[in-house]
Amino acid sequence: MENFNFYAPTYFAFGKDAEAQTGSLVKRFGGTRVMLHFGGGSVIRSGLLDRVKKSLDAEGITYVELGGVKPNPRSGLVYEGIELCRKENIDFILAVGGGSTIDSSKAIAAGAVYDGDFWDYYEGKPVDKALPIGTVLTIAAAGSEGSPDSVITKEEGMIKRGASGEAYRPKFSVLNPALTQTLPAYQTACGITDIIAHLYERYLTNTKDVEVTDRMIEALILAMVNEGPKVIANPDDYEARANIMWGGMMAHNNSCGVGRTQDWTSHNVEHELSALYDCAHGAGLAVAMPAVFTYTMRHDVMRFAKIAVRVWGCQMDFDNPERTAKAGIEALRNFLISIGMPKNFSELGAKAEDIEQLAHTCCYGNGNTSGILYGFTELKQKDVEEIYKLMM
Ligand code: NZQ
Ligand code: ZN
Repeated sequence: MENFNFYAPTYFAFGKDAEAQTGSLVKRFGGTRVMLHFGGGSVIRSGLLDRVKKSLDAEGITYVELGGVKPNPRSGLVYEGIELCRKENIDFILAVGGGSTIDSSKAIAAGAVYDGDFWDYYEGKPVDKALPIGTVLTIAAAGSEGSPDSVITKEEGMIKRGASGEAYRPKFSVLNPALTQTLPAYQTACGITDIIAHLYERYLTNTKDVEVTDRMIEALILAMVNEGPKVIANPDDYEARANIMWGGMMAHNNSCGVGRTQDWTSHNVEHELSALYDCAHGAGLAVAMPAVFTYTMRHDVMRFAKIAVRVWGCQMDFDNPERTAKAGIEALRNFLISIGMPKNFSELGAKAEDIEQLAHTCCYGNGNTSGILYGFTELKQKDVEEIYKLMM
């Protein structure tokens, strides 16, 4: 195991009606004048926004509202939010919604206390300062409720990039699994896929002897595979929703990723797809993961064989471990298709003629002058082009 520092101080309020605690949590973490940030309207339709406002009112906390965050959140609304925060002297940002709303809130929180352009953070500047953030989560997926990350799309050129830093860890997150019962099955499945990707991309490591985190990852993927079909069949299954919601947080707050190298190739490859075609992040990952894993499998066949046996119940073929590794990737692909995820490039709306451009931005974006993606294995533009071709 490698040396690491791990500090994940988010306070979680979990369970039925947990959103009633929002006002007191904002107060506890020093908020007096809040920007309430939300998406395209699901939180208005469900009545959640009204309940959150009521709990702020009860604590005498004032607020301004900014709705309209789109999935794959855009820089335009971030600039608007930054202006609003400055004009209204906001001291706390409250995200009510999914990963997109939380990520937009994080970008606004950093931009509001920075003299330069907030996009600097999305070109590699570590996020060292931001207004405090709280979240009321409505979808189990991105894990932004416990992560130090945010992903934003710049409209100019439709470039999707991530930023990271301690200041992006939410002060608190309210997790009421019942709030996810209004999700369409497709969004639920996209979320489960994203959670599984966060686990796989930590599993694909070059670090030896990381048995504890290996086992944690395997357990969490198994839980998603068991609980996922239950909520697709019955959206009101609270217990299954609860397991998926906590699993989604565990998958991405990095408790399973410490002390080991990680591999974010599937995410890098996917972010180009959701930037260019505006597909759901989870849907893009469902198509990207099997292709990336098939391409990189030979780098460490035994690692893929191990997850195939331990998670997917494949029979170990000691004479031909590659066969076992491939069976595991196939089992993952079939599981994702079974919960309603797309299976190929065209189902995502992607086009073969864009492959060279997608691979180029993937390798050279984010100020990466080497053009190499480092992770489980090193990949150049030509490799990434082959990966996109495997998705067709
Ligand atoms: O906008 P509204 O009307 O709220 O509708 C949303 C949206 O259309 C809807 N929705 C959310 N909760 C709902 C609901 N509809 C009904 N009932 C509910 N309870 O679902 C749609 C998707 O929402 P979104 O916030 O986009 O989903 P998600 O949480 O999957 O976030 C995706 C974004 O997170 C980024 C992705 O790249 C993508 O931009 N990621 C962020 C990460 C992070 N910050 O740590 C890591 C991830 O790997 C990921 O890259
Ligand atoms: Zn993700």
